[in-house]
Amino acid sequence: MITNTLEQKRYFSFELLNWYTRNKRDLPWRRHRNPFYIWISEIMLQQTRVDTVIPYFNRFIARFPTIEALAEAPEEDVLKLWEGLGYYSRARNLQTAAKQVVELHGGQVPDDTQAVAALKGVGPYTTGAIMSIAFNRPEPAVDGNVMRVLSRYFLIEEDIMKGSTRSHMESLVRELIPEGRAADFNQALMELGALVCTPKSPHCLTCPVMEHCSGRLAAPQAPPPVPTHAH
Ligand code: ADE
Repeated sequence: MITNTLEQKRYFSFELLNWYTRNKRDLPWRRHRNPFYIWISEIMLQQTRVDTVIPYFNRFIARFPTIEALAEAPEEDVLKLWEGLGYYSRARNLQTAAKQVVELHGGQVPDDTQAVAALKGVGPYTTGAIMSIAFNRPEPAVDGNVMRVLSRYFLIEEDIMKGSTRSHMESLVRELIPEGRAADFNQALMELGALVCTPKSPHCLTCPVMEHCSGRLAAPQAPPPVPTHAH
């Protein structure tokens, strides 16, 4: 395995944050710092594209502006607003978790990693996303897109389906998050994966971190490798 230099890491964090500040998309859940809205957006985005999610997200927060409103609603109302998004267990779990938050945390998403991780339907990725985006806590939020970006930039040739690879990536992200910038940094990683370091034909020439990208340097004429089990 290649040992990544401190410089390669510092450059990545610095340039990525700068790029994000200038290029981030204006998405409805980025206009609020409401932990409940961040949570809803992350659940909707789990299996669904950003463009599809936007109108669903807006309707959902209009109908259920608070955790109490969601907890108290008839389940069929919740499912109705989810219609067309698919994976309905996400909606059911979200409502169950809203009830948990009302009972255990007074209706506020807790600023506590273990408590968030214990909510129904909230796995390690979503826990990290909520803690970092809503509370700016330095927790990694590693999903398939983030793994693709990191595998390429650091030329990590590990099977992304393995748990050990995820742990490795999470430790790496902990090292990469600049002091006090977890919310922006994690979203910057997601944004790079969505807009530039795309699965099939990455836009290396406009990439803010191309200069020290190990994937690019290993195969300058070809697109960087996509990990075998990425999707
Ligand atoms: N995909 C998952 N979470 C996201 C977020 N917060 N912004 C954009 N894309 C995402």
